[in-house]
Parts: sequence; structure tokens; C-alpha cells
Amino acid sequence: MASRSYAAATIFRRRVISIAISSQKGGVGKTTVSINLAHAFARAGVRTLLVDADPQGSVGLSLTRQSRLLAGFYDYLTNPAGPFDRWIVPTSLPSLSLVTCGQAGDYEAGDGGMGTHLVRVRAFLRSVAACGFDLCLIDTAAGLFGITGDVITASDAIMIPQQAEPLGIRSVPKLLDGLHRLRIMNPRLSVLGVCLTMVQYNLTESTQAAAALRQLLPPAMVFQTQIPRDDLFVRASARGLPVGVLQDGSRAVVVFDALRAEIAAKLAPLQLSIAKSGPHPAAGDDQRMI
Ligand SMILES: Nc1ncnc2c1ncn2[C@@H]1O[C@H](COP(=O)(O)OP(=O)(O)O)[C@@H](O)[C@H]1O
Ligand SMILES: [Mg+2]
Repeated sequence: MASRSYAAATIFRRRVISIAISSQKGGVGKTTVSINLAHAFARAGVRTLLVDADPQGSVGLSLTRQSRLLAGFYDYLTNPAGPFDRWIVPTSLPSLSLVTCGQAGDYEAGDGGMGTHLVRVRAFLRSVAACGFDLCLIDTAAGLFGITGDVITASDAIMIPQQAEPLGIRSVPKLLDGLHRLRIMNPRLSVLGVCLTMVQYNLTESTQAAAALRQLLPPAMVFQTQIPRDDLFVRASARGLPVGVLQDGSRAVVVFDALRAEIAAKLAPLQLSIAKSGPHPAAGDDQRMI
């Protein structure tokens, strides 16, 4: 039964689903959400590619100390020639692969206005689809301009991590204005919503900020799942791992599985259902990403 539904999903799959993980502000949990969400989808058997489109290379740094030496996304933007699979780094979880940021060079200084790289980002996503991935999660730098703007414009969907703290919440309406502009360039862009991160349930200011965001936005625009502030995430990133592979990571696995299910439910009515492939290792099985 499982293999039949997988075959059907493969035959009818139109293309890879691409989701940009972006926000106006830095330090709100984009990279943490990207890594752990990619791991959650991959554990569920979705062939997932995690792309580090932040010139500062946080996904790569988080997952392997040598990632700065690997060619990656920004090298592709500079010169996409050659077989595409040379950009793809397998991990010890067969359904999860990475594209590191690579040598960002000039891009770190914000080289290139918005639109400059749109054609190449689109070509990149077509090649990802041709490689047979079901899902491409793209961790971006803060802001909605430059290459991040091009990534969002080329993507099917965007999700926005937002730290549950009072000052951060105030920037959300501005962010939505920015997204409105991007949707003019890509009317197909689906805004999956804002995901509250680093929620501190024992701190009134944090829970009040989360409640204030829910008052500010329509319910469908805020994920039900909230990512709690948890030292597990800091410990995992120090060891270069998603939390799901830590022996005591199960409480974070539950949260990211819930976020994965919410995303899948939001994508389904958009005819963007995610195909699933084979079995997956359990949390704790896998102590190394690369
Ligand atoms: N839920 C969380 N609980 C505790 N620390 C977190 C959590 N999410 C992120 N962090 C920490 O906060 C910092 C910023 O997170 P990061 O994911 O790098 O944000 P961004 O990619 O938006 O800049 C990192 O040190 C990370 O380990
Ligand atoms: Mg980051």
C-alpha cells in the first residue's frame, strides 16, 4: 500500500515544492527552524533538500565545520555549469541532502540588486526537481531584498519564523507589507504564515508577545505550533546536529513533527501535496549529519 501511494505520488508530482524560510530580522530562529524542519520531513520519508542561501553560511556551519570548503549555492549562482549533483551533499539520513552556501564572496557584502539572480535561482529549483527531490527548504539571510528577495520570488511558499518577544512582534506588519510587494512579482507565492519561535512559557512578556501576534494577524497566518525556547537547540547546533538526533531530543521532535504536519496540511489545498518515500531512522539513531 505504502509503495503504491508512493508510486502514484511520484507519477503525478508536478515538481519540487520550494519553501523559503525568511524574516526581516536576524537571530529569530530561521536556521534552527530550517535544519530541524528539514530533518522532520526527511524522517517522514520526504526526499528533502536543505539549501543554505545565507551568505554567512549558518546551515553549513551548523552541520559541518568543513562546509566552508564545499562548493554551494553561491558558487552555483556565479557559475552553474557542470552536472547539478556536484552541489548536493548527502547526509547519513538518505532522504536528506544539503546544498551549502559555498563561497559567498561578494554576496556577503550584498552584491547584486533584487532580480539580478532570479533566472539562476529558478534554474536551480528546476534542477532540484529534476534530481527527484520532493521538497526544497531554503534558509535565507535576514531581510526581503537582494538574493533573499529572488529566492522568495522563485519559491512556491514562504514561512516566517518570529521570535516571541515584544519588540520583534512590532516588525511583523512591516514584514507583511514587504511580502505584499513580493507577491506582486510572484502571485503564486503562498504565505504559509508566521511561526512563533523561542517562546518562553515561564515569561509573561514572551507569552504576551505570542498572544499579541495572534491578535494582530488572521488565525490562518500564524502556525498553531510554537517552538519553545529550549537549550536543546543550542546544544544541538554546537554539535552540528538537528535536535532530532540527540538522545534526549524527543520533545523537540514532537514539536517539529507537528510543524511538519501543519505545513503539509497548508500545502495540500494548493495542489502542492508532498510525496513520501521509504522508511526512516528513529531519533537518536543517527549521530552524524555528514
Ligand atoms: N527554540 C530555541 N531555543 C533556544 N535557542 C534557540 C532556539 N532557536 C534558535 N536558538 C538560538 O538562537 C540563535 C539564533 O538562531 P538562528 O536559528 O541562527 O536564527 P537566524 O537564522 O534567524 O539568524 C542561535 O544561537 C540558536 O542556537
Ligand atoms: Mg540563519
